[in-house]
Amino acid sequence: MLTIIIPTRNEEQNIIPLTELICSSLQGQAFEILFVDDSNDGTPRVLEELSHKNPQIRFIHRHNQRGLATAVVEGFKAARGNILAVMDADLQHPPEILPHMLKSIREGNDLVIASRFVPGGDDGGLSPLRKLISLTARLIGRLALKKVRPVKDPVSGFFMLKRKVIDGVTLSPLGWKILMEILVRGRYHRTAEIPYIFERRRGNHSKMNITEQVNYLRHLVRLVLSSPEDLRFWKFCLVGTAGVMVNMFFFLLFNRLFSLDVVLSALLATSLAIFGNFMLNDFFTWTQQKEDHLLNRAIKFYLCSGAGMVINVAVLSALHCYLRIPAILANGAGILASTAWNYYANNRWTWAN
Ligand code: GDD
Ligand code: MN
Repeated sequence: MLTIIIPTRNEEQNIIPLTELICSSLQGQAFEILFVDDSNDGTPRVLEELSHKNPQIRFIHRHNQRGLATAVVEGFKAARGNILAVMDADLQHPPEILPHMLKSIREGNDLVIASRFVPGGDDGGLSPLRKLISLTARLIGRLALKKVRPVKDPVSGFFMLKRKVIDGVTLSPLGWKILMEILVRGRYHRTAEIPYIFERRRGNHSKMNITEQVNYLRHLVRLVLSSPEDLRFWKFCLVGTAGVMVNMFFFLLFNRLFSLDVVLSALLATSLAIFGNFMLNDFFTWTQQKEDHLLNRAIKFYLCSGAGMVINVAVLSALHCYLRIPAILANGAGILASTAWNYYANNRWTWAN
């Protein structure tokens, strides 16, 4: 059976049209609709009446509690289905695609996301400002967390999953983006994204606000801290940044104070910075038990760094000399490319288990 969980906060006018659309879309399927309501308007009254008339519809009304993601978690706990869906109440999420999502689950996908950003999808119902905020949020999320990276619309509030994905998993989301929590902590193998068009909101206004945007960032930090492989990458970047400062410091010391030649100062400063980075990464970034000898690890790290420098210069010159991109931007791209290489190579080789 499918349980459709719908968080509601003051959606009085939307409940009836929404349930009618869901019921006609899912004719012939076994399903229940479970509203998790935090309203202080007439919504609970509408839900009360509706659930009396239709045994397929249930609702939970929470007092003195708010929050979209926690409402969904509460819905997961009370759901009777072995397949769970989550969607909004305001008809911005079209119930017509529920059958396609269900089919995709039955074809073997564990988690199916209704997506605005795969071909055929569209986020037309958002204002230009909200579109920009949403784009930034998606970029940061996909950059910060490896498991989120393959997903085009990880902040979607419309998705379906097999219960086993979250069974036994502790979900402690902060704010709105319950899907991010599931993507990072859930147990799934196959995912799919199904396009949909995010229409304009019906009735009332969006409850998204600056507090929820800050909550999103706090939620991301919490997810990164709880995910060792993502945390390791960010520690590596932190060490790299410290390395730049160490490099600058020694360069100035040799060049200005000891009046050494520029190239010699740079060579010495770079070698020292790489050594510092190696030690820091060995203590702080890759904290596991190591089998390889310290000296071997150091040699491997130097070799990776050397290749990284070649990559940096190659990207810089290709972009600057051939594509005429300003040197500073081209160097930025070179640094990104060599950082990615250095992390990958050191993770796979220097500190491989
Ligand atoms: N129970 C409960 N408690 N529900 C809430 C609360 C709350 O505190 N706040 C909002 N909701 C409900 C709304 O009633 C609605 O059904 C749904 O959550 C989404 O709220 P909207 O105010 O319509 O948000 P939005 O349209 O700006 O954004 C939605 O769609 C985006 C695209 O999928 C959200 O689902 C976003 O997370 C999503 O990215
Ligand atoms: Mn909405």
